[in-house]
Amino acid sequence: MLATKMSVAFYGHVRQYHNIQAEIDANIREVLESGQYVLGPMLKRFEQELADFHAAKYAIGVGNGTDALWLAFKALGIGPGDECITTTNTFFATAEAIWISGATAVFVDCDARTNCIDPSKIEAAITARTKVLVPVHLYGQCADMKAIRNIAHKYNLRVVEDNAQAIGACGDGFKIAELSDATTISFITQKNLGTFGDGGAVITNNSEVDRIVRRLRNHGSEKRSCHGMGYNSRLDDLHAGVLSAKLKHIEEWTRLRRKWAARYRAGLAGARNIKLPHETPGYRHVFHLYVIETRLPEHRDQLLQFLNDEGIDAKCHYPIAIHQQTGYPWRQQARILGPLTNSERNAACCVSLPMFPELTEEEVDYTVAKVLEWDRRTP
Ligand SMILES: Cc1ncc(COP(=O)(O)O)c(C=O)c1O
Repeated sequence: MLATKMSVAFYGHVRQYHNIQAEIDANIREVLESGQYVLGPMLKRFEQELADFHAAKYAIGVGNGTDALWLAFKALGIGPGDECITTTNTFFATAEAIWISGATAVFVDCDARTNCIDPSKIEAAITARTKVLVPVHLYGQCADMKAIRNIAHKYNLRVVEDNAQAIGACGDGFKIAELSDATTISFITQKNLGTFGDGGAVITNNSEVDRIVRRLRNHGSEKRSCHGMGYNSRLDDLHAGVLSAKLKHIEEWTRLRRKWAARYRAGLAGARNIKLPHETPGYRHVFHLYVIETRLPEHRDQLLQFLNDEGIDAKCHYPIAIHQQTGYPWRQQARILGPLTNSERNAACCVSLPMFPELTEEEVDYTVAKVLEWDRRTP
């Protein structure tokens, strides 16, 4: 029997901290006692662990996932006059990073089922100025990297994977970071691998990208007192310590996310007014977010309000597509190869249900029951 009213949170990071507090605290203490808090031994250790996790040669810790993107673009020589192809149904930072690098953002539609970039829309957007494709592994599922890599080969383009949301995911016969020039990660608190604040990383097999990002993140310096133009964007050792402790649990947490996703799927299978997330056969979705879509856009706010009123902290990711934001494109260089029908539908219909490893069966079942209650009441 379900409790009459419950409170279901959207994030579980405090529960997560309590579950592995001794390991996190030990790493924090180790950093504090080392006396080296920036570019110290804990960062070096975590970078190696992160590279190994991706079976990649290099991992470079930076200040956040946005910096990881534009530092990767800069390392690949992308700047003013160059075009970067991506989607508008993503977190704002994907486009923001393109603009920070001075390049032009070119937007194509997403796939109707996965909401990741639709490879069949890319070729029509390619011009002589196109330099890089930027697929986003949205909600925790990889974009179709094989198709994207084939297009990149055909037109001699670079590929940067925006992997802020899908650490631990893989595709049908490919791994993240395997088919790209660089992959970027965000470690902001709510991510599948999140720290207590901001953090990010670039993963690459390209020694030049590794060298340039390392230099750029540290005031353009490879050697003490010698500088070229650069920035200050380093992953602090305290964050590296937290992330090193958490990385050891990422597989177990992914298993739990997938377990809750399966429970949602089984519970909600009969609902008439919503569409459930599509997991591409052969892919491993890591469910950073569990995003359902209402069949009708006018139902979205009703469902969201209903769940919130019932104590469930459901949210939307992302309710306003980038090209629909007020003031777009803020005098930045942008081009739309439209129509962006699927991206706009995704923005209009998305509802994210609570999804984190530390959820309980009772919380998931209560959320399922409330979605079904809304579904029954909705004509
Ligand atoms: C898809 C995507 N790209 C980029 C970012 C930017 O990362 P950060 O917030 O660490 O700068 C995020 C997350 O915040 C994201 O979800």
